[in-house]
Formats: sequence, structure tokens, C-alpha cells
Amino acid sequence: MGRLIIVEHPLVQHKISLLRDKNTGTKEFRELVQELSTLMAYEVTRDLPLCDIEVETPVAKAKTKTLEGKKLAIVPILRAGLGMVDGMMSLIPSARIGHIGLYRDPMTLKPVDYYSKLPPDVSERDVIIVDPMLATGGSAVEACRIVKEAGCMRIRLVCLIAAPEGIEAVSKLHPDVDIFLAAVDSHLNEHGYIVPGLGDAGDRLFGTK
Ligand code: PRP
Ligand code: URA
Repeated sequence: MGRLIIVEHPLVQHKISLLRDKNTGTKEFRELVQELSTLMAYEVTRDLPLCDIEVETPVAKAKTKTLEGKKLAIVPILRAGLGMVDGMMSLIPSARIGHIGLYRDPMTLKPVDYYSKLPPDVSERDVIIVDPMLATGGSAVEACRIVKEAGCMRIRLVCLIAAPEGIEAVSKLHPDVDIFLAAVDSHLNEHGYIVPGLGDAGDRLFGTK
């Protein structure tokens, strides 16, 4: 069974409040998404395997630890997931990046696929799918399906704000996927927007509204 992890760290909660504020402009919004993604990267990598090494300090030999070298891929769901890539990469610079292009049909709220490019060896990698918003869950469910179809079975989903409906959809259809969130909100409105949420993440990131 996949884990559901809500990151309660005070810095995360503070930055989420700033992100929600309708008076936060595009530049600050983009910076906050990046900072939050770095903080979420810290949590999502918490159980990466380590092995023992020895290094020589200026004083003596030290028995210490290094990452075992598990291969990772970060897969943003376009567009808004793009805003999370740099923040994640600042902590895991050797991760490969895949892209999945989906948009939500405003009438049906179903995801429409328009692009997919994953690293050729993605089936050997642990995949971290990133998207700031988990609303109905349709986009995340589809992204997990695409990544699994490419042969990858170890998937973590990192979102910033989720509705209960989205968590339920992912947990039901991809029960093996670990979900990392900064906040769980009340519900979806009649347009499928998270309440209170932060509005349209893609538009706020890229200044398209
Ligand atoms: C937003 C968001 C998610 C999706 C979440 O993208 O970034 O991908 O909606 O909604 P869901 O859980 O109901 O699928 P959107 O479809 O607005 O596309 P955009 O990022 O290109 O603006
Ligand atoms: N997509 C967004 O960007 N915001 C929402 O609240 C729901 C879907």
C-alpha cells in the first residue's frame, strides 16, 4: 500500500500560505513553488539507500555514508509541474527529467494527453511525478499510467495542494504510489477547482491570466 505523507514542516506551511494569497504576483509565486519543491525533495528522498565509505578529513580517516546511487527520474506534468523541476533538481542534480503533457478539459475535467517523453532507461529508475495541484486526480492517475506503461513500477507523486477527491482517485487506481503533499484542502468546486486552493497553478506560474 502506498504511503500518504503530509509535510507539516513550518517552512512548508508558511510558504503554502504565501502561495495561496491572491496578491502574490507571478515572480514571487514562481520562487515559492521552487522553494517548496526543494523542501518537498528533502522529504521524498528521505529513504534513499546509503552505503558505507571512508574519506580522509584534514584530521583523520572517517567512516561515513554516501548515497548508494539509486537512479531517479523527475517527471513534471505540463505545464504547472515544470515550476517544480528546478527546486527538486537543486537537491538531486543527477536525476533525469521526463515530461508528460496533459491538460484538463474544462467541460469534462478529464485529462487530455498531448505530449510524453521519458528517459529511455526510465524502467530502471524510481520516478517522482510532480504537479502543484491534485484536484480530481485525473491528471495524476493518467501520468502514473503512462509511467507504468513505460515499465516503471516505483513511483512517488509530489503535489503541493490536494483535494480529498484527488487523493482518493490516485490511491484507488494506483494503490502502490506514495503521495507527498504540503496541504489537503476541503473540496472541489463546480468547476473542479480546489477550495480554498490557490487558483489556476499554471496561469499563476506563467502569467497567462
Ligand atoms: C492543472 C494542474 C494539474 C491538473 C489537476 O493543470 O497543474 O495538472 O490541473 O487537476 P486534476 O487533478 O483534476 O486532473 P491544467 O489542466 O490546468 O493544465 P496546465 O498546467 O497546462 O494549465
Ligand atoms: N488545477 C489548478 O491549477 N487548480 C485547481 O484548483 C484545480 C486544478
